[in-house]
Amino acid sequence: MNFTVEPIDATFGVMVTDLDASTLDDDSFAQLYALWLDHALLVLPQQHLTREQQIAFAGRFGPAESGIFDISTVRPDGDLRREEIEEDASFLNMLRGNYDWHADGSYGPALAKGAVYSAQVVPKQGGETGWADMRAAHDALDDELRARVETLAARHSIQRGQARRGLVHDERNIELGPEFNPLRSLVRRHPETGRKSLMMGRHAYSVPEMTDTESRIFLDGLVEFACRPPRVYFHDWQPGDVVVWDNRSLLHCVKPWDMREPRVMWHAGISGSPESDSILSMDQVPA
Ligand code: OGA
Ligand code: MN
Repeated sequence: MNFTVEPIDATFGVMVTDLDASTLDDDSFAQLYALWLDHALLVLPQQHLTREQQIAFAGRFGPAESGIFDISTVRPDGDLRREEIEEDASFLNMLRGNYDWHADGSYGPALAKGAVYSAQVVPKQGGETGWADMRAAHDALDDELRARVETLAARHSIQRGQARRGLVHDERNIELGPEFNPLRSLVRRHPETGRKSLMMGRHAYSVPEMTDTESRIFLDGLVEFACRPPRVYFHDWQPGDVVVWDNRSLLHCVKPWDMREPRVMWHAGISGSPESDSILSMDQVPA
C-alpha cells in the first residue's frame, strides 16, 4: 500500500493516513478504490481540500452529481440561517431530516453511489455523522428473517421521510415531487462486489402486503437491529477531515446539534446508475 491503513472499531470502515487526496497517482487511487469497495467507508483525516480538489477527488470514484452541495447552517452570504426567515427554516428542516438513518437518493430514480464529505466548520457539540453497515446487518439476521426480507420490498419517498419528524419536504431544496416513490427490494446486491445488503431507512415507508402501521413497525425494527454496534461508526469531525462513503452498502445519519451554531459541510455526491439499482417499479402511486 502507498499509504497507512488502520481499522475502525466496527464491521466496516478504515482510517487512511499518509496520503494527499489531491495528488494521488493512478496506482494509489486504484488501491484506495479497492479498499473503499471492501470497507465501504474511508476516513481521511486532515486533508483540507479546496472545493475544486474535493470535486476532482469525488470524480475519480464515479460521475459527479452536481459539484458540491453545502450542507450548512450558514447561508451563501455568510449569515447564519434563521428560523424567522421562511427560506432558511425550510433549509434547516431539510437538515433535520438527516437526523434519521437513510441512504441518499433512495427516494429518487437512482440511489447515489456514494459521497465525498468534508467538514469546514463544526459545532461545539453534536453534529457527528454516523454510518451503519447494511452488509453486516443482512448477514447478522437470523435465518428465518433473512429468508423473509429476501422476498420483500418497500416504497421510498422523500415526502414520507420528512413527515416522520413532522417536517414538510420543500422542492426548493431537493427537486422531487410526490410522484416519485420507487419500490425497492429490501435486499440488494452490490453491483461491484456482489455482496448482499439491506436497503431501508427513513425514506422507506410501505411494504406491499402490509398495512402502513405494520410496515412502520417492521421497517423501524429492522433499522433498530441493523444500526447498532458493532455495525455503526460515528465520526467526530475536525475541520479538514474528509470521508468517502459507499451509499450502496451503508446508511448514514447525523447527531442533532444546536442549529444556531455554524456547521458547514461539503457534500460532493457520486452518481449511481438506475441499471445497477434495486428498483422494482417506479409506479406513480400517490405519496
Ligand atoms: C448528507 C447527510 C449528514 C451530516 O450529506 O447526505 O446526510 O452529517 N449528511 O450532515
Ligand atoms: Mn444523506
